[in-house]
Amino acid sequence: MAGLSVNVDHIATLRQARGVNYPDPVAAAVLAELAGADGIVVHLREDRRHIQDRDVHILKQTVQSKLILEMAATDEMLRIAMEVEPNLVTLVPEKRAELTTEGGLDVISHATHLAQAIDRLHDRNIPVSLFVDPDPAQIEQARHIQADVIEIHTGAFCDAIEAAEKDAAFSKIILAAKTAYQLNLGVNAGHGLCYHSIKRFKGLKEIDEFSIGHSIVSRAALVGMKRAVSDMLKLIRDL
Ligand code: PXP
Repeated sequence: MAGLSVNVDHIATLRQARGVNYPDPVAAAVLAELAGADGIVVHLREDRRHIQDRDVHILKQTVQSKLILEMAATDEMLRIAMEVEPNLVTLVPEKRAELTTEGGLDVISHATHLAQAIDRLHDRNIPVSLFVDPDPAQIEQARHIQADVIEIHTGAFCDAIEAAEKDAAFSKIILAAKTAYQLNLGVNAGHGLCYHSIKRFKGLKEIDEFSIGHSIVSRAALVGMKRAVSDMLKLIRDL
């Protein structure tokens, strides 16, 4: 059975929208774990648009399952990762102007740089995952530079509208998962997965864990709406 790591970035997005101290991604992480999450994921971006350094440090002390830190392979982020020592670092490409991580790493073109980052993290006994598009050549290169895990970018599959395009994107995910599994890499998958698209993964046993954020935080906002409004109404009626 595959696991689920919950990405709480967008709880921090809501907080940052107002520049206040709530909702706290640390509180969301506790609730996600109480609901059975196998891990908590945060992406500390260079521009700190959602998760802040303080979140990562507190999560390291409070997460009971495992803390996965997504980050770019920059000196600044490597320094933070080595300080925090999360249970897994997922290296991702990062562009300032993007809304969210757009594509997987080009492990082939950036092999030397990524290999150095992996070595530095391994020196601290931190396992490393590389976020890659479902491309066997990228996955073989990830193995070659000693990555421990790959995370397959599921965005193209989730975004595809036409059935044929969706089927083709899913076939690539199957091939990527099987390739990584045969290479003894851990296999995670994520980006854009929602309550519909996840169903397609039934029986794909090579995937160890899904990393899901936006759809879960979105559903939390809606399933919690009735309770939140009635809590406020009670207070107003008591005025
Ligand atoms: N995996 C990676 C590497 C990501 O960058 C993201 C987005 O932060 C996710 C998984 C989760 O994607 P989503 O928020 O669309 O579920």
